[in-house]
Amino acid sequence: MNGDTLTVIDSRTGKEAILPIITGTDGPPVVDIAKLSKELGLFTLDPGFRSTASCRSRITFIDGDKGVLLYRGYPIDQLAEKSSFVEVCYLLKNGELPTKEQYTKYEKIVTEHTMVHEQLLNSFKGYRRDAHPMAIMVGVVGALSAFYHDSLDIHNPRHREVSSFRLIAKIPTIAAASYKYSVGQPFVYPKNDLSYTENFLRMLFKVPSQRFKMSPVLIRAMDQILILHADHEQNASTSTVRLAGSSQANPFAAISAGIGALWGPAHGGANEAVLNMLDEIGDVSNVGEFVKRAKDPKDPFRLMGFGHRVYKNYDPRAKVLKQACHDVLSELGQHDDPKFKLALALEKIATEDEYFVEKKLYPNVDFYSGIIQSAIGIPTNMFTVIFAVARTIGWITQWDEMIEGGEAIGRPRQLYTGEGFRDYVHISQRE
Ligand code: CMC
Repeated sequence: MNGDTLTVIDSRTGKEAILPIITGTDGPPVVDIAKLSKELGLFTLDPGFRSTASCRSRITFIDGDKGVLLYRGYPIDQLAEKSSFVEVCYLLKNGELPTKEQYTKYEKIVTEHTMVHEQLLNSFKGYRRDAHPMAIMVGVVGALSAFYHDSLDIHNPRHREVSSFRLIAKIPTIAAASYKYSVGQPFVYPKNDLSYTENFLRMLFKVPSQRFKMSPVLIRAMDQILILHADHEQNASTSTVRLAGSSQANPFAAISAGIGALWGPAHGGANEAVLNMLDEIGDVSNVGEFVKRAKDPKDPFRLMGFGHRVYKNYDPRAKVLKQACHDVLSELGQHDDPKFKLALALEKIATEDEYFVEKKLYPNVDFYSGIIQSAIGIPTNMFTVIFAVARTIGWITQWDEMIEGGEAIGRPRQLYTGEGFRDYVHISQRE
């Protein structure tokens, strides 16, 4: 706080409240509005939180106008190029990059927790085979609290640490099992001498009758996808995790709530929607027609993978993924991939179009990630699951920060627009 204030005068009563303006390390300052209700009896209305900071946080920073994303101060493009997903997990959770010794110890602990309780694997059989894997994820991650109740005391830092390791380590195993179950293949147990990402891909693709082998270029691209999706400050799913966790629910329950929020096509489901949209567009010659539809206010169609609540510039994650897309497709000898060509044409036309330019709608992280995952062999309905695997570290770190900060239960207010008080009328007297 630097002494700056905002004075609010209630024109009905002439009463005033002097509200402190608080400045963070970076980003727009915020007005602390606590006195509004205490001194003037007023609440604020901000549906969709377009103008509201819901918490203080030291983890991730986004400058949407400049297209900048920092994890603990480090720019996302440098992390995507030079770091690994496990190192990024350490950074997010601990606030600093690890030394060699710290990294080795951290990776070993994550690796040692990759197996899940056998009964948990049995619980998959309770789902229909044709269930969406995200439906299974919501259920099974929530069910972790039925298996690991020795680490559920949220006020005990050691319990929080153990739960966090369990979540980061087990989420790929659960994600891979949700896929294997849906395709009727046996579950693959983790192989702990592989890297986090190679192990995950092996659990997804290995079948008993064949050896698993994947090009390091593809493994690296998947690792980058995990890095780029690891955290994104107070987005819908993270805010859900914080809100659910603020009631002192256990971390597995809170993260299961976050997975539910992530599922929607306006959030994590968008990369699945991008591929469906590219299928629907079909050919470069149809791009103009679909761009026209996206601009028509009467047509609900939107260009999936375009636009972002915070970025009003090119999403820095999309830049990294566009390059990764080139790398993966060349490695596979698929330079002429029709979906990639279509995506490039769509990006060119949309980013030159007045509507998109004026509304600052640029490709977001989901625009290219689906094409890469598809090339790696990941089915479309698993894309959001991959996002959940990556975002688990962000969720658990944000949850931990909230619990440690002793935040009160989240309880927004409302502007009531329903009926006023009225007396109950017996059914025999209603017309
Ligand atoms: N195609 C066409 N028009 C669009 C699009 C789009 N993809 N996105 C926004 N607009 C228009 C929108 O119709 C509105 O127009 P108007 O001012 O005339 O009413 C204007 O741009 C502002 O849009 P908004 O919906 O008020 O913006 P928002 O911040 O509420 O929505 C969004 C952000 C991501 C939900 C939205 O851009 C969208 O639906 N995009 C497509 C879905 C998508 O790609 N989602 C992934 C988001 S990134 C992943 C993540 O971080 O979770």
